[in-house]
Amino acid sequence: MHTKKISKALKMIAATVVIFVVALCITIAATRANSNNEKWRKITRKPHIIVMIADDMGWNDVSFHGSNQIPTPNIDALAYNGVILKNHYVLPVCTPSRTAFFTGRYPIRDGMYGYPLKAGEDRSIPLNVTLMPEHLHRLGYATHMVGKWHVGYSDDNKTPVRRGFQTFYGYYNGYITYFNHTITQDNQTGFDMHRDNQNELKPDMSNKNKYATDIFTDEAVKIIDKHDDDQPLYLQISHLAPHSSDGLETLETRDLAEVNETFAYIQEIHRRKYAGMVSALDESVGRVVAALSKNNLLKNSIILFMSDNGAQTFGLLENYGSNYPLRGLKFTLYEGGVHGVACVYSPLIKHKARVVNDLFHITDWLPTLYSAAGGNVNELGVIDGINQWSNIKKEKIIGQRKSLLVNINPEENLESAIIGQYKILKGSSALYDGYFGDNVNDNDPSGPGYNVEDVIASPTSQSIADTTGNATTYKEILQLREQSKIICKSFSKFSNCSVRCLFNLYNDPCETTDISDKHPEMVEKLEYYINEYRDVLVNQKGGTVDINSYPRNFNGFWMPWLNSVK
Ligand SMILES: *[C@@H]1O[C@H](CO)[C@@H](O)[C@H](O)[C@H]1NC(C)=O
Ligand SMILES: *[C@@H]1O[C@H](CO)[C@@H](O)[C@H](O)[C@H]1NC(C)=O
Ligand SMILES: *[C@@H]1O[C@H](CO)[C@@H](O)[C@H](O)[C@H]1NC(C)=O
Ligand SMILES: *[C@@H]1O[C@H](CO)[C@@H](O)[C@H](O)[C@H]1NC(C)=O
Repeated sequence: MHTKKISKALKMIAATVVIFVVALCITIAATRANSNNEKWRKITRKPHIIVMIADDMGWNDVSFHGSNQIPTPNIDALAYNGVILKNHYVLPVCTPSRTAFFTGRYPIRDGMYGYPLKAGEDRSIPLNVTLMPEHLHRLGYATHMVGKWHVGYSDDNKTPVRRGFQTFYGYYNGYITYFNHTITQDNQTGFDMHRDNQNELKPDMSNKNKYATDIFTDEAVKIIDKHDDDQPLYLQISHLAPHSSDGLETLETRDLAEVNETFAYIQEIHRRKYAGMVSALDESVGRVVAALSKNNLLKNSIILFMSDNGAQTFGLLENYGSNYPLRGLKFTLYEGGVHGVACVYSPLIKHKARVVNDLFHITDWLPTLYSAAGGNVNELGVIDGINQWSNIKKEKIIGQRKSLLVNINPEENLESAIIGQYKILKGSSALYDGYFGDNVNDNDPSGPGYNVEDVIASPTSQSIADTTGNATTYKEILQLREQSKIICKSFSKFSNCSVRCLFNLYNDPCETTDISDKHPEMVEKLEYYINEYRDVLVNQKGGTVDINSYPRNFNGFWMPWLNSVK
């Protein structure tokens, strides 16, 4: 009896201990699960967004589109490991294109559709239109920009740090010289390099005589190195390269002797220099991706690479870029001006290594990235962009774009739009109507050919492999490269489009043959489409340079020169 009681008591103690231990285990497990949730929460939180914009880079100036002339292994690695946007449309020049990117709106809505801003011109994206960095900052992003601004700076409130960026290191105008960092307007030469933050706008000489592409890359890497993974990052790197500049030497390379050696097989000296500029830009992409990987940010990043418009192969500030095989060049509404290089890479895209043929427009990036950042696109107000994030991820086929306005420029009588495979184009000055890609001896037999191993060995590809455990294979790369090429059947004759042309872009991507006689119904449909947009067009202001802006008034710098309107 007594022993029974004791044994019963012992059993009870044992049971209590068991219960206690079980409870403890559950508690520990729950704590573990919580910390897993914590990790999971961190992994699934807002992605870092890195945007790299090349200036005046042509369709044929990246090697993933099929050219062997200028190897771009880092840009190619980004493309092959991500999604190649084969039908990505932009505006034909800098200011309109950057306006469209920042606002998600066709620049006709904001008087920003035409000739790019001159240094000292008092015009900007209207202050009541919110820009991409401001939207993202509202979602909790740290926002930084390096490089080119070019959407207005006449007073402080129009500068990047008053329009959504926390820091800015770069230039306000359309371009600068690569080493001297100056731009000349009306014979007035001034420095245009600034280190701005929320408290001050500071002209900067600390990187004098350094090569612009390297300066911007160094700044970007510093921002990435300092960045705390807990906060989402929006970093925009708007390169000067491969724009030409206006000093004595318009195509400036970091080291011409080295460029002469590397690109000895390119006979045309300007094209050879251009190759050096593009090559430095490609290195920059590799350094940025490597920095993201080193800092453990790449796993949760979206990286967009694109050109703002086609290459200026001819005329003012020509850069010897190539839009081959597309017709036309920068400033024109032909494909060479508006059908741009673009690719997007992210470990968050599961169906990667794809060429997407759907229409994309540069205005789509605001809603697309805003959506990727967890924002509700209805908060973006009146925009023309379409949220294509699910299309990029290939999750659901929604939000595909079926049509786009290329541009309306009433002062120059230029207009164009695309619906499906049809493009209408009106008014184009005779001088620029030709195809200007044939200054390039593209497949020079003395050149290196295409080296897939260089792509796989590039810092970009290596960083992607380090972060995700795999990268696109040799065989896939060759297939993707084939799919990325645009093939044209004939170059023999080009229709004159000064009045009007209708092209079928599927059969005739190089816009050789006007088919408006055969498809009057399409002409009518496209004209109606353009007319609808005429109602929202706000005319662009004059383009006069204010002499009060001259650098001699500001210690030799181009600076905001007007008082801010409160
Ligand atoms: C900005 O203000 C102008 C002038 O008041 C107005 O016409 C325009 O519609 C406004 N734009 C937006 C996007 O609110
Ligand atoms: C710039 O200087 C040149 C040579 O002195 C002169 O011919 C030209 O008119 C000047 N241009 C302007 C806009 O002042
Ligand atoms: C840069 O400035 C120096 C003098 O400060 C001048 O000799 C040189 O020509 C300039 N370079 C360019 C590309 O304008
Ligand atoms: C590069 O090559 C060009 C053309 O052959 C030549 O004029 C120039 O002097 C060379 N420059 C250097 C630094 O080697």
